[in-house]
Amino acid sequence: MRYVMKGGNPLAGEVTISGAKNAALGILAAAIMSDETVIIENLPDVRDVAVMLEAFREIGVLVDRSERHRVKINAANIFTACADNPSIKKIRAGYYLLGALLGKYRHAEVSMPGGCNIGNRPIDQHLKGFRMLGAVHENNNSRVILDAKELKGAHIFLDMASVGATINLMLAAVLAKGNTTIENAAKEPHIVDVANMLNSMGAKIKGAGMDTIRITGVERLHGTEYAIIPDQIEAGTFMMAAAVTRGDVTVRPIIPTHMDAISAKLMEMGCEIIEQGDSIRVVGRPALYSCNVKTQPYPGFPTDMQPQMGVALSLAEGVGTITESIFENRFKYVDELSKMGADTEVKGSVAIFKSSGPLKAAELVAPDLRAGAALVLAGLAAEGVTVLDGVDYVLRGYEDFDEKLRGLGAEIILTDSEEDVAQSKLRIG
Ligand code: EPZ
Repeated sequence: MRYVMKGGNPLAGEVTISGAKNAALGILAAAIMSDETVIIENLPDVRDVAVMLEAFREIGVLVDRSERHRVKINAANIFTACADNPSIKKIRAGYYLLGALLGKYRHAEVSMPGGCNIGNRPIDQHLKGFRMLGAVHENNNSRVILDAKELKGAHIFLDMASVGATINLMLAAVLAKGNTTIENAAKEPHIVDVANMLNSMGAKIKGAGMDTIRITGVERLHGTEYAIIPDQIEAGTFMMAAAVTRGDVTVRPIIPTHMDAISAKLMEMGCEIIEQGDSIRVVGRPALYSCNVKTQPYPGFPTDMQPQMGVALSLAEGVGTITESIFENRFKYVDELSKMGADTEVKGSVAIFKSSGPLKAAELVAPDLRAGAALVLAGLAAEGVTVLDGVDYVLRGYEDFDEKLRGLGAEIILTDSEEDVAQSKLRIG
């Protein structure tokens, strides 16, 4: 799949933000831990969610998604704790089935996690925690196998504040006997959302969103009806779109505190930020000013917004830097920006962006999900018609991305074949 887009239009208007993808994936895993029916609202319609639901069906979970943003799940008749279908291998969050199935059945077999190639991405902290809860672990035919006679609460200290490990260990620990403490836990908004959802099923989790999470195990989880929070990264991407196209965009609904690190940087770069209730309006200025950014776990600047920020810095006056401190391979989009005339250089974990005038249209390839979204912003800010290949990555995490952008005045078409690309170029060129 490809996007064909013509840059130059300042984006303007209001855009509706979908449910958070990364919260949804943890929440879906939590949903199969009860034998009662669970209803999830505000589910984003993105590929990773569809893959997760497909994997559920294959192990016997009943899934009713008759409405686009609402799913009804009943996992009373799961017939195997082995999830290794080809699709689950493609997504990172397949590993949440480890915590969910281990907690519920004391046994889990899941294909090694896939996902975006943004670094080494080991899961040693997940496995360490599962072992401390009483599970034995082995790897077999690229499958992770976990087995426990019983799960017992434990004191787990994570070596780094891992989002995935924190969620996975919460999932397993809610049905373990006794008390579990997770120290140096991740604090991202989706950690809190998954914990709130589990608590609505009868779990006893305290402290989610802080460094230490305390869990008292319960016998069983019951059904619930739960609405997912808005997507912090989707909202941030549209805020950055306003900045790079010198537009005027309101994102809604959002939880303003989730956006603080992004809003602060946009203000530093000269944008006006107007916060009102559940919305933020970003008014871009003719000139953007450079700044220095370091990605950090929440509440720091999110690594998932790093490529979008890279596009803004390559359009800004002066010299700006980004230090990527979470993933070692997240600067692949920089080569693509160079094709557009950006003056950029990567030295280890730091990317340097020097002002180089407007970006020029080019033929680009998306190296991963967030980088793909960032290159769309670059294309919409550039002079001429840009073609971005590898859009399947973007569809994994953004619902109706092109449609939402068109609603703000962008000229962008999603196409499939070579012929369509030529036709689309003619249409918008
Ligand atoms: C989650 O990945 C997100 N994915 C990522 O979003 C996001 O970039 C990342 O958190 C950081 O916010 C999902 O929620 C599905 P981590 P995850 O465990 O859980 C190291 C997107 O674009 N680490 O917090 O894989 C790891 O290598 C995606 O939506 C270990 O060393 O991230 C990394 O350097 C991309 N051992 C750091 O910790 C472990 O056992 C943080 O990773 C676990 C992690």
